[in-house]
Amino acid sequence: MDYARILHYYLYPMPRSLSQTTKDFLTFPLRAFLLVEGDKWGLSALPSERFDYVSRNVRGYCLDVGCGKYNRFVKEFLNGEGVGIDVFKYDGLTDENIVEDLSTFPFEDETFETVTFIANLNHVPEPLRDTELSEAFRVLKPGSNIVVTMGNPVAMVMTHKVVELYDKKLGTNYDVDSERGMEEEESYYLKDTEIIERLARAGFSEIEKSYFFTQWNLNHLFVGWKR
Ligand SMILES: C[S@@+](CC[C@H](N)C(=O)[O-])C[C@H]1O[C@@H](n2cnc3c(N)ncnc32)[C@H](O)[C@@H]1O
Repeated sequence: MDYARILHYYLYPMPRSLSQTTKDFLTFPLRAFLLVEGDKWGLSALPSERFDYVSRNVRGYCLDVGCGKYNRFVKEFLNGEGVGIDVFKYDGLTDENIVEDLSTFPFEDETFETVTFIANLNHVPEPLRDTELSEAFRVLKPGSNIVVTMGNPVAMVMTHKVVELYDKKLGTNYDVDSERGMEEEESYYLKDTEIIERLARAGFSEIEKSYFFTQWNLNHLFVGWKR
């Protein structure tokens, strides 16, 4: 029996160490409601956890589309090995991060080894979704991958509501979508079929879905390849 392979199969999807993963798995509902942004009380906040899951699929120099505040994914989880871009100048972003019109990505063909859309393809206005995914395909080197994360519809709507409530009641500023102002053609979530069809239309193949098991499979991730 190939124990190394079996061990790899079970351990690979773990975002963090075994003890951290166990604590995070057991406390998922608590974390979802109480840890909106930063890790606390020895538990992982959902954003850091999703960045960890995604970083395990990054193959090299990475473009993070819709990077959000502080360009955290590239800076903290990829040691700066990439570029984060966004349409809105959130705290911690510089002019280099801002591309107001993402219908054309300002990069040469075949620049990157991974492109990520983390918790944001639903925020790309509907008429632009295919265009941005095609741009992702263009700027990837052959043999490279795209990673898209998307929550379960009920979880996505609930999370938005919780964060909105936090900001209203506690005067915090966690809800990046309200700060920017959600447009009509954005959505709270996308169905799997829409994500898979759009990825295939943009040219990606071997599209696979996997789950964030420490979030009780309520969040998931798609990987597709440019062959
Ligand atoms: C829920 S936030 C996710 C931010 C970050 N990726 C994360 O995981 O924390 C959604 C992001 O999508 C961005 N966004 C809005 N319009 C976009 C567009 N046309 N293309 C790409 N991203 C967009 C927003 O500005 C925001 O940063």
